[in-house]
Amino acid sequence: MIQTLALRRPDDWHLHLRDGAMLRAVLPETARDFARAIVMPNLVPPVVTGADAAAYRDRILAALPKGAGFTPLMTLYLTEGTDPADVVAAHEAGLVTAVKLYPAGATTNSASGVRDMDRVRPVFEAMAEAGIPLCVHGEVTDPTIDIFDREAVFIDRVLDPIRRHTPALRVIMEHITTAEACAYVQAGDATLGATITTHHLMINRNHILAGGIRPHFYCLPVAKRERHREALVALATSGFGRVFLGTDSAPHTLARKETACGCAGVFSAPVTMPCLAQVFDDAGALGLLEAFTSLNGPAFYGLPANEATITLAKGAPLEIPPQIETGDGQVVVFDPGTPILWRVSEG
Ligand code: NCD
Ligand code: ZN
Repeated sequence: MIQTLALRRPDDWHLHLRDGAMLRAVLPETARDFARAIVMPNLVPPVVTGADAAAYRDRILAALPKGAGFTPLMTLYLTEGTDPADVVAAHEAGLVTAVKLYPAGATTNSASGVRDMDRVRPVFEAMAEAGIPLCVHGEVTDPTIDIFDREAVFIDRVLDPIRRHTPALRVIMEHITTAEACAYVQAGDATLGATITTHHLMINRNHILAGGIRPHFYCLPVAKRERHREALVALATSGFGRVFLGTDSAPHTLARKETACGCAGVFSAPVTMPCLAQVFDDAGALGLLEAFTSLNGPAFYGLPANEATITLAKGAPLEIPPQIETGDGQVVVFDPGTPILWRVSEG
């Protein structure tokens, strides 16, 4: 018997599309299954002004396959020089959906990020007033803090103070990886949401480090202990309304991953929906997959859910293509290493 599952078309609330040849190769992998995505601004140089966001949006639209019904939702990269008026104007013009906070040096292409939160308070105040959400990469960069502790420490030292200072600011804790972050978002009010990636629901730190080092599982925030992965699965599959999918699909070429100092990022866009169906199936929660992928995100962002649907079907194990070709080189596709019995049968 074939088991199928129809869902409203999903959205990806945290995605890296890059630019140029890489953009042209990875965009169709998202546009195939997803209707919208929050597009990260960490290009080199970053997307910092409304004008930058408009130009980048146009390059994305030009790279879309013919007939693809996909809408990029643009973000601005917050710097200590960001002009609050430019942010509000770009949002009012419909150009920009959210602003992204990277602590300086926290991750790939974050050198222009924020060092001193006091310097961006006026931007936070203006965003709270205008109802513009802040997407947060929640890791401290203090070199004395162990990398596995950086998310939990960020909540105490940075995130909670920001929210106390500007309580009306809508905040999305992105790609949460710890039980502490799960507890914090659950304890929060309606201004607080969180995204969870595909890979953090499927791998723990042993997958990266035990029995050989696996660079294609390395991303930031780095995957934590199994008990944290279990907390993430429990939250994602619980139906809790303020948590939703943000794949953080982050392509880097094979050459830049398989090297002495490899880049952080997992490229999961091509397989995310089959993988998530497997996670939710294994948790006995298939009926809550749609909330996670297609309903909770739009509700938090104040957008309508998509009317179109996709259908997933369960059957023989999915053959995951090892990589895709791009004009910049090959990009390895996320493969959790366990059978995925689901696939997208109709898009
Ligand atoms: C992202 C990237 O490659 O741009 N990498 C990652 O490991 N997630 C940056 C980010 O979102 O942290
Ligand atoms: Zn990211």
